Amino acid sequence: MALLNVQGVTKRFGGLVANDSISFAVPEGSLFAVIGPNGAGKTTLFNAISGFFAPTSGRILFDGQDVTGLAQADIAQRGLIRTYQLVQLFKDMTVAENVQVGFHRMTSGNVGAALLRGAGFRRQEEHIREETRSLLTFVGLGNRADVMADTLPYGQQRLLEVARALAAQPRLLLLDEPAAGLNTQETDALADTILRINARGVTVVLIEHDMGLVMKVAQRIAVLDFGRKIAEGTPAEIRSDPAVIAAYLGTEAEHA
Ligand SMILES: Nc1ncnc2c1ncn2[C@@H]1O[C@H](COP(=O)(O)OP(=O)(O)OP(=O)(O)O)[C@@H](O)[C@H]1O
Ligand SMILES: [Mg+2]
Repeated sequence: MALLNVQGVTKRFGGLVANDSISFAVPEGSLFAVIGPNGAGKTTLFNAISGFFAPTSGRILFDGQDVTGLAQADIAQRGLIRTYQLVQLFKDMTVAENVQVGFHRMTSGNVGAALLRGAGFRRQEEHIREETRSLLTFVGLGNRADVMADTLPYGQQRLLEVARALAAQPRLLLLDEPAAGLNTQETDALADTILRINARGVTVVLIEHDMGLVMKVAQRIAVLDFGRKIAEGTPAEIRSDPAVIAAYLGTEAEHA
């Protein structure tokens, strides 16, 4: 069954159609990628799916339920968690504290009750500390827990964002260009981390410009260009799709 179903999603900004009736389905447990040239509408689509804003029209189903237009916090509460294209860490907190922020989604509803039950609250805190260590180890930051987040090199800051997103226990994780600014070695490590996240049973949708990464990890790819979905298929199908090749050659020609 599809965990995420995007049905005819359109988003207009004034006269600009940033998403033009986009549809696709992401099967539970799969690793799906959304690619396309700059300005194609990829981040806009994530904003609509995650409840950052409502689409102008169309529907978004998560786990069979209509979540169109719900607040971002409500959608996150259901297990749909996203990361951002630009790093959004708390710079004046440690690496571990940044991950602990991610647990908020699970614990917030119980905080009042937990405060009344002192021992339970301490157990919960202890549990969060252990889980934080384990998530940092999972993304390869196990030995950086107590340093300030802004002292990490950029590549490690991006991994920290992934750890924080995982702390919220996503069923569906939306990653917006996680490899942007990473070197080849860091990108390889990230590819491995994304595959291990998916192997844990988390469904992943990845926006990415690094074609090597996309072709390596994605099972299925949707291609956007000027707000429209111009292709969808396996990595092999996308690589040889004339419309996709034309869209990317067009972008290169503009840059030249
Ligand atoms: N909040 C907004 N208000 C007005 N226009 C917007 C807004 N967000 C995005 N746009 C416009 O919508 C179009 C799609 O932008 P979007 O950020 O979704 O592209 P993208 O595919 O993520 O590009 P990139 O690869 O550069 O991140 C662009 O023309 C952009 O300028
Ligand atoms: Mg973007």
